[in-house]
Amino acid sequence: MFLISELAKRVGVSRTTLLYYEKLGVIRGQRLDNGYRVYTELDAQRLTLAMQLQAGGLSLKECIACLNGKIDKGILSERLHLLDEEIVQKQKARKLLSGLLGESSNRDFHAQLNELAPQAHYEWLLQQGFTEKEAQRIRWLSKDMNTHDQYMQDFLTVFEPLTRWGPGDESDTLKAMSYISDNADSILEIGSGKGLSTCLLAEHSNAQITAIDNEPIAVTNLVELIDSKGYAEQVTPMCASMSELPFKAHSFDAILAESCVYIMGFEEALKQWQTVLKADGLIIVSDLVWLTSKPNEKYQSFWSTEYPAMTNVDTRLMQAKKLGFEVLDDFTISAKAWQNYWQPLQARVNALKASMPESQAIKDIQRELDIYQSHDGSQFGYHFFVLRRKEL
Ligand SMILES: C[S@@+](CC[C@H](N)C(=O)[O-])C[C@H]1O[C@@H](n2cnc3c(N)ncnc32)[C@H](O)[C@@H]1O
Repeated sequence: MFLISELAKRVGVSRTTLLYYEKLGVIRGQRLDNGYRVYTELDAQRLTLAMQLQAGGLSLKECIACLNGKIDKGILSERLHLLDEEIVQKQKARKLLSGLLGESSNRDFHAQLNELAPQAHYEWLLQQGFTEKEAQRIRWLSKDMNTHDQYMQDFLTVFEPLTRWGPGDESDTLKAMSYISDNADSILEIGSGKGLSTCLLAEHSNAQITAIDNEPIAVTNLVELIDSKGYAEQVTPMCASMSELPFKAHSFDAILAESCVYIMGFEEALKQWQTVLKADGLIIVSDLVWLTSKPNEKYQSFWSTEYPAMTNVDTRLMQAKKLGFEVLDDFTISAKAWQNYWQPLQARVNALKASMPESQAIKDIQRELDIYQSHDGSQFGYHFFVLRRKEL
C-alpha cells in the first residue's frame, strides 16, 4: 500500500495530478479509518501505463479507454504513425546537434544542413572562419572538414591534368554563343576552368573577353592556353569570385557561365550577374536539370544530396522570366558533351585508384561517375539557357 505522497514520489508526479487521475478513474484510492488515502501496486502500475500511453500521444480519455480494455485500433495506429514521424524528426534534430558538437560525421552533418537550409549553412561556414571558396566547396561537396586540405589536394590531383572540368562540347557551346551579337565588344566568362570555351569565344567574336575563375591552377592553365593560341591581347584572365564580381555596372554585352551556376544557385547568380550586364545583354548558363517529372529513385537520392537545388527546365525558365529575362533559347547538351567529360575523368580515376586507395575525393568522384555511366540521358542533363536581360 502507498500513501499518496509515496505514490507521487514513485511515479514522479504531484499530489494534485494524482487526485486528478483518481477523479478520472485511472486509480482508485481507499480511505483508511485514520482518514489517510492509500493506493495499491495495481494503482501504481495503471498510472505508469497511463503516463506511458500519454507520452505516446494518446489523450487521457484514450489512455483510460485502453486501460479498461477498450482499445480503438484506428486511433492507436494513427498515433503510432505520428509517433514514427516524430521520432524521425527528433533523430534529424539529434544528428544536427551532435554535428554542431563535432560528435558525428562532418560529411553527413554538412549534407543534412545543406539540404535543410543551404543559404544559412553557407553563412554559418563563413562565420566559422572558412573563406568564401572553402565554404562553397564544403557546401557543394558536403565534405569532411577534418580532412579538408587532403580532400582538396586529392580533388585537384584528379582534375589538374584534365582539359575539361565539366560536361561540354564545342558544338553545344557554339550553338549557345551564336546568340551573342557580332557587335558585342565585351564578354565575361565566369568559372572558365582551363579556358576551352574562352578560346572559342576569342575565335568566334571580336569582343574583348574577360575570363574569371577562383581556382589559381585553372587561371594559370588558362593563361598558358591563350598565350599559346595567340589570344593574349583579346583575353584578360582573372582569379576572381563569381559571387563578388570586380566589375562596374553595365560592363558586358554577354556573360557565359558553363556548368558552374550551381555554385551560387541559379536565381542568386542571375540576380547578381545581371548588374554587370549592359541593357539587352545576354546571360548564357548551363545548369544540371531534371529531364523527367518522375526521376528514378537512384538518381533522385544521389542528386538530392549532391545538388539539392536541382530542378526541371520549366522551373528554371519561370525563375529567369520572373527576374526579368527573356528566354531566347534553351536546349539540353549532347550525349557527346557528357562523354567528353566523364571518359577522361574515369581513365584518370582508374590510373590513380591504386595509389590513393583511401581517398574520399576519389570515392566521391567515382560515385558520381557511376551515376553518369548508368544513365541513359532521359533523367537528367545539363541544359543551356540563353537569356536576354530586358531593358529596365
Ligand atoms: C565544373 S567546372 C566548369 C568549368 C568550365 N566552365 C567548363 O565547363 O568546363 C566549375 C568551375 O568553376 C570554378 N569556380 C568554382 N567556384 C568559383 C567561384 N566562386 N568563382 C569563380 N569560379 C569558381 C571552378 O574552379 C571550376 O573551374
